Amino acid sequence: MERDLTQDEFKRFHDLIYQVAGIHYPVEKISLLSNRIRRRLRAAKAASYDAYLGLLGSGAQGAEMQAFLDSITTNETYFFRCQRHWDFFRQQVQQKQQQGDLRRNGLRLWSAAASTGAEAFTMLIVLHQVLGDNFGGVPVELLGTDLSNQVLEEARAGAFRPYALAQTPPEIVQRYFTRTSADQFVFDKKLAAVARFQRHNLMDPLPGSKPFDFVFVRNVMIYFDNPSRERVLGNAFQVTKPGGFLVVGESESLLNVKSQWQYLKPSIFQRPAVDAPTAPKPVGRA
Ligand SMILES: C[S@@+](CC[C@H](N)C(=O)[O-])C[C@H]1O[C@@H](n2cnc3c(N)ncnc32)[C@H](O)[C@@H]1O
Repeated sequence: MERDLTQDEFKRFHDLIYQVAGIHYPVEKISLLSNRIRRRLRAAKAASYDAYLGLLGSGAQGAEMQAFLDSITTNETYFFRCQRHWDFFRQQVQQKQQQGDLRRNGLRLWSAAASTGAEAFTMLIVLHQVLGDNFGGVPVELLGTDLSNQVLEEARAGAFRPYALAQTPPEIVQRYFTRTSADQFVFDKKLAAVARFQRHNLMDPLPGSKPFDFVFVRNVMIYFDNPSRERVLGNAFQVTKPGGFLVVGESESLLNVKSQWQYLKPSIFQRPAVDAPTAPKPVGRA
């Protein structure tokens, strides 16, 4: 298949992707989506876009659906993305440590669109810098989730290409990574041991989880429309401790998106210590 999707085919793929993943592909991205689907067409030996749609079915769980979702998601990530977020995270952890909160309550963290794990492991580096070896005896649990199994496997392996470390100071690379080949750096296994990676669709509530102190949902809501964003924000709210924090991507506007989160500063929100009795309202600021 050489040609791009027709408008009609595009609509059918668009609706399926939206239904399964909440991702809204704008029509201007028709060539990008066509390219991505063509790769799966070849791999699955499907003769046409229509035949491939038939192979996918509508369930989110089939093997081809999984490979399809791997191929249509954008997984770019790197360590220390958005330094302002990490300054905030560091300050909050230091504050909790000074208040004696951490040893008592531990720390639970969720990287909710984790991709290959750079965000989750940046959390661990900052925690180690603040708390020291063995996190100073603080019980730390870190969950990384993503829709794509492929990136989750990479996260479990903890191996990164130089691109992922381009914003990371050399002394941190030296301290927390082992270079195993010219273009591969493996993250500290001892620190990584507190991280667990599992598949999860942000459109669904996170099942059976104890509440988190910090939830990072960065650089994914850019692919969603407002109803999907409201779902994600509501699901994240439910599993965050009162007083806990939500960090979203810097370029993600949440203007006109209704939720119960309280705006703290650009791209950072807090679950109020006591939930407001009123209905969700627009978050107001990005
Ligand atoms: C651009 S990456 C962002 C990675 C990281 N949070 C960061 O900011 O560097 C977006 C990730 O969101 C994942 N994703 C997209 N839709 C999703 C959904 N409905 N549920 C869970 N993850 C999703 C993609 O697979 C991709 O790995």
